[in-house]
Amino acid sequence: MNTECKKGRNVKKSKSDMVNLIGNVDQKDDLKYNRRAFLKTAAGASVALGLSTVPFSVKAMMGMAEEEEERVEITKLANLPKGESLTFNYPTENDAAILVHSVNGELVAYNSACTHLMCPVFYEKDSDTLLCPCHKGYFDINNGHPISGPPQRELPLIELEVTNGTIFATGRKYRHG
Ligand code: FES
Repeated sequence: MNTECKKGRNVKKSKSDMVNLIGNVDQKDDLKYNRRAFLKTAAGASVALGLSTVPFSVKAMMGMAEEEEERVEITKLANLPKGESLTFNYPTENDAAILVHSVNGELVAYNSACTHLMCPVFYEKDSDTLLCPCHKGYFDINNGHPISGPPQRELPLIELEVTNGTIFATGRKYRHG
């Protein structure tokens, strides 16, 4: 067989049967199959990537992300009358937090670094709100959402449990919205 008259990749003179076989493949078909294989692979990768992010998407749609944290004792309920607050650290020693027994009798806790520029927030009994004195940012005591001033994001919520008169921190939630 004369290999000189073949078109495409196999233009060199060669005695190899393998090279001759490759030269017999119609290059349009070759291109079509390569494109199809590429598209199949790309579609498969997209589906796999999409499925792998479903758990995160569901949590994001629900507006929360919960962390697995250990249960830590904060204080005795008797030590925190209505209208009082205390600071503690959770979930690590570097995460300042505030526990409030509101004037309405609710127990709530948040990480206390302001979501504007990280100044600590305080409980203001008279207005029953959390106040950041740095730029007068106010947060709703019931849910930690910003209600006035520069902060745009809510404070991370610390979940609480009261067992036999002792208050425990049991987890932390980041919310959005
Ligand atoms: S740091 Fe809290 S309002 Fe600016």
